[in-house]
Amino acid sequence: MTSPLRIGIVGLGTVGGGTLNILSQHAELLAARCGRPVVVSAISARSRGRDRGVDISRIRWLDDPLGMASDPDIDVVVELMGGAEGVARQLVEQALLNGKSVVTANKALIAHHGIALAQMAEKTGAVLAFEAAVGGGIPIIKALRDGLAANRFLRIAGILNGTCNYILTTMWEHKRGFDEVLKEAQALGYAEAEPSFDVDGVDTAHKLAILTSLAYGCAPAIDHMHVEGIRRISLRDMEFAAELGYVIKLLGITSHTEGGILQRVHPCMVAADSPLASVHGVYNAVLAEGDAVGTVLFEGRGAGAGPTASSVVADIMDIARGVRYKPFTLPVAQLACLPFSGMDNLRCSYYLRLSVTDKPGVLAEVTGIFKDERISLRSFLQHSHQPGETVQLVLTTHDTQESAMLRAMAAIAALGSVKEEPHMIRIENI
Ligand code: NDP
Ligand code: HSE
Repeated sequence: MTSPLRIGIVGLGTVGGGTLNILSQHAELLAARCGRPVVVSAISARSRGRDRGVDISRIRWLDDPLGMASDPDIDVVVELMGGAEGVARQLVEQALLNGKSVVTANKALIAHHGIALAQMAEKTGAVLAFEAAVGGGIPIIKALRDGLAANRFLRIAGILNGTCNYILTTMWEHKRGFDEVLKEAQALGYAEAEPSFDVDGVDTAHKLAILTSLAYGCAPAIDHMHVEGIRRISLRDMEFAAELGYVIKLLGITSHTEGGILQRVHPCMVAADSPLASVHGVYNAVLAEGDAVGTVLFEGRGAGAGPTASSVVADIMDIARGVRYKPFTLPVAQLACLPFSGMDNLRCSYYLRLSVTDKPGVLAEVTGIFKDERISLRSFLQHSHQPGETVQLVLTTHDTQESAMLRAMAAIAALGSVKEEPHMIRIENI
């Protein structure tokens, strides 16, 4: 066997703890598969005294995590603390500039600064690896870079946030409230340090930007993306969705359209028999449509200690084995500057829920607006109680242009009989 690969780990929380666990429990297996041992040379976190659930007493502790970047006994820095700026960014930059390879699960860092970091890695010959940044335990980065490399991608769509999928699934299956279920996801180690990143779609956006980059050979473009989260999704919407034959999921979708690449993150209704409808709890799924391969579906746990650490350790093993690749598949100088499309160009069908006064003429007013915008209705639901009460009116449309739908919604919201802001959910044919 050749010399050991010496790693330094910064961040010993959910993912860092899980990584230490795999490295110690599977040490022999990893050494055999890599042809050399992987040893943890040093660790660092904020609080030295905190119980990590694994024995760290014999591992060298560094109070200053940035010391890892220039430590002569460290070959690879494993950044598992998180954050697009601050110590995480400084650590990764300094390590790469010093020629040390970096493994990270930090999608925020990669989505915002991945190109600059990849340039640093190219300059010094270091590896920058981030399999754990998207899809937790699903090896989707490797799949896009290697296994599906022969394809042009028409669309990539996925459930990319375990916390949101856990919330949506648990709210529906157990009829529980949003806040309560979010707290549970946090306790299970699924949520980001700032959980609004999860529920407001930001985390999904970070991951989608990385997938787009790999699929289309461009730099991650987090600023060219429509992002909505799941805060407005209610049990009532889930009930109507079920009645209409749909399930509500937060999806990240990137597709090649006539206007350019369209990246969007928002709640979607998907048909109850769609493969994405049966992805529950913390599971993620990525559906890739390639021109040669057709549709491929990847599914697995998208968050949590074990699944995420599985991807982190796979990256460490690649480095131990001497596998080398460009972080974004192509050299940075060859990444394309592609046009990005806005949501105005999107065509899909829509679900619209209105709270209206139940009185004669209301439906005619609403459908009149749809007629003016040339939007064709597909279905209509109303569970009426007493005339004069506020009732829920649910309409779905045939495929229509997003811009027409938004104009119609604004006009409907201004009607005197409409009591709350209309709630629209896009229906994704997937
Ligand atoms: P945790 O909050 O559980 O752990 C963060 C760790 O980083 C803690 O050990 C903390 O120290 C340490 N830390 C934070 N700030 C500093 C600092 N300034 N200096 C030194 N150490 C610091 O986070 P996770 O393990 O959940 O997430 C880590 C990364 O992995 C993030 O980028 C996240 O987005 C990503 N990720 C997380 C997944 C998950 O399921 N949780 C899945 C995929 C990716 P201390 O313990 O002493 O407070
Ligand atoms: N907070 C993230 C999620 C962690 O819930 O999916 C995995 O990236």
